[in-house]
Amino acid sequence: DIKGFAFDLDGVIADTARFHGEAWHQTADEVGTTWTPELAEGLKGISRMASLQMILDAGDHADDFSQADKEALAEKKNHNYQQLISTLTEDDILPGMKDFIQSAKAAGYTMSVASASKNAPMILDHLGLTKYFVGIVDPATLTKGKPDPEIFVRAAEVLHLNPENVIGLEDSAAGIVSINGADETSLAIGNADVLSGADLNFESTSEVTLANIEAKMQ
Ligand code: G6P
Ligand code: MG
Repeated sequence: DIKGFAFDLDGVIADTARFHGEAWHQTADEVGTTWTPELAEGLKGISRMASLQMILDAGDHADDFSQADKEALAEKKNHNYQQLISTLTEDDILPGMKDFIQSAKAAGYTMSVASASKNAPMILDHLGLTKYFVGIVDPATLTKGKPDPEIFVRAAEVLHLNPENVIGLEDSAAGIVSINGADETSLAIGNADVLSGADLNFESTSEVTLANIEAKMQ
């Protein structure tokens, strides 16, 4: 029996994955790593410092930057990202997600947020959605980021539910691995070839409804 939902934020609730991509693209240009669709896809769901490391590794630049350089690059990316999201409003909720969150709440499901982003609480406030969630996992308290299961294990604990009673929603390959590792039901939003490890696949957020989920769980 499903009793709750653990949501990723960027690319699931908020149309912000493209802004992370834009800001990381600038970083890649700055350090001399070629920006590719594969790199962009692989960065989804990955924590800030691990994302930077992936960009440096992709260009074989891992040894060219000191720890202080890396912290400055990550700080600059976050600054650029925060500029890009500074005007976020309710209109930046992805199609259908506000309806889905409201109907899930009305139907008695509990919901938590499992985002790697330290900007998540601020974004949820801008979108007017904070009140729907019983809690947000603080990524600063994690020992390992996605694809490790820890964040989705913690998201179920926030809900006071066993993992088998939770559906995790994700737009990233790393996130689907994390949900599956936490023994929850994984619901992927996006290209089913990229997200082939998921239990349930949806092309876009507008298709995510309680009725469609029930139909796919049969
Ligand atoms: C999410 C996004 C990633 C981002 C990570 C850290 O998982 O999908 O693209 O790198 O959060 O976000 P932050 O806002 O803390 O830099
Ligand atoms: Mg995401």
